[in-house]
Amino acid sequence: MKILVTGGLGFIGSHTVVELQNKGYQVVIIDNLSNASLDVLEGVFAITGRVPIFEKLDLKDKSAVQAFFKVHQDIQGIIHFAANKAVGESVVNPLMYYENNINTLVYVLQELTKLKVSNFIFSSSCTVYGQADIMPIAETAPIKPAESPYGNTKQIGEEIIQDTCNINAKLNSIALRYFNPIGAHESAKIGELPIGVPQNLIPYITQTAIGLRDQLSVFGNDYPTIDGTCVRDYIHVVDVAKAHVVALQRLLDHKNQTNFEVFNLGTGTGSTVLEVIKAFEKVSNTKLNYKIVDRRPGDVVSAFADTSKANLELGWKAEHTLEQAMLSSWKWQKVLK
Ligand code: WQD
Repeated sequence: MKILVTGGLGFIGSHTVVELQNKGYQVVIIDNLSNASLDVLEGVFAITGRVPIFEKLDLKDKSAVQAFFKVHQDIQGIIHFAANKAVGESVVNPLMYYENNINTLVYVLQELTKLKVSNFIFSSSCTVYGQADIMPIAETAPIKPAESPYGNTKQIGEEIIQDTCNINAKLNSIALRYFNPIGAHESAKIGELPIGVPQNLIPYITQTAIGLRDQLSVFGNDYPTIDGTCVRDYIHVVDVAKAHVVALQRLLDHKNQTNFEVFNLGTGTGSTVLEVIKAFEKVSNTKLNYKIVDRRPGDVVSAFADTSKANLELGWKAEHTLEQAMLSSWKWQKVLK
């Protein structure tokens, strides 16, 4: 069973490739290496003993996408990760985000719907909810105006898929709305590889602890939460990866109830920034150097998932604790140095 994973050398993509191979799937990766390195292939091989087929290809090149699908007519499913995902960067460079995140989705769907079998898993995000009014956030929560061009590309992406599914009963699709994926594979052979100064909390914590950064800035402690810092749902990346395999299997087994379904991927538990820091200090047995600074524009106060739909309908549940995730990040950082 051949599965295409676009962006398969990225953080969540590479962990999903491992879980797909563990389940016996043949994996073809497309990646343009703009935000990933070929070394990740070695990491995947070191874990599974199998090398995925890899094609360096930029999905913005429509004719290259068409040529790829001419060769791989036997693809049984696609998991589409390839996209830019830095919220701040999207604000200063919106057209790059619309071109890369939207055009590529259109080109992949145009080719997929020509195949005999069309199973599609879309990498979406809790960002589509904006600042939800009710916690935990269910899939039925209203989609709020996007807080960034990045978030808008995920909202538009889901609409493009829905509109395509409406006129193409053969296309079966699931959008997975990630909360905050963190951590690394327990082998420490693959993990998060932020380029430059990390935007996300966990890599900034581990880089501070290992001495690459002087001090972590905590963006505000005057929010209406238990300790004043923002709340997020931090979910281990391996749990996120396993959910992709379960979702794909659901489509392959024709168990989906409609041809476009949406599931939250979270733990169902919210943690504040200070709680994350405390968890890290405990598992790493180190004291983290941080200071409280002003709020970061665009941050929502709180976001954590209602996971009941994924638990009940997908039969999937996050298994790792926050501390296990933090420990895996720390183990990975010590390998990276
Ligand atoms: C988490 C918390 C910050 C850095 C991300 C992605 C988004 C989506 C969800 C994929 C916030 C605080 C952070 C720092 C800090 N993922 N923080 N100091 O903003 O929830 O969104 O995950 O779709 O695309 O961007 O994650 O890790 O940036 O921030 O205090 O140096 O940590 O204020 O409260 P976020 P994050």
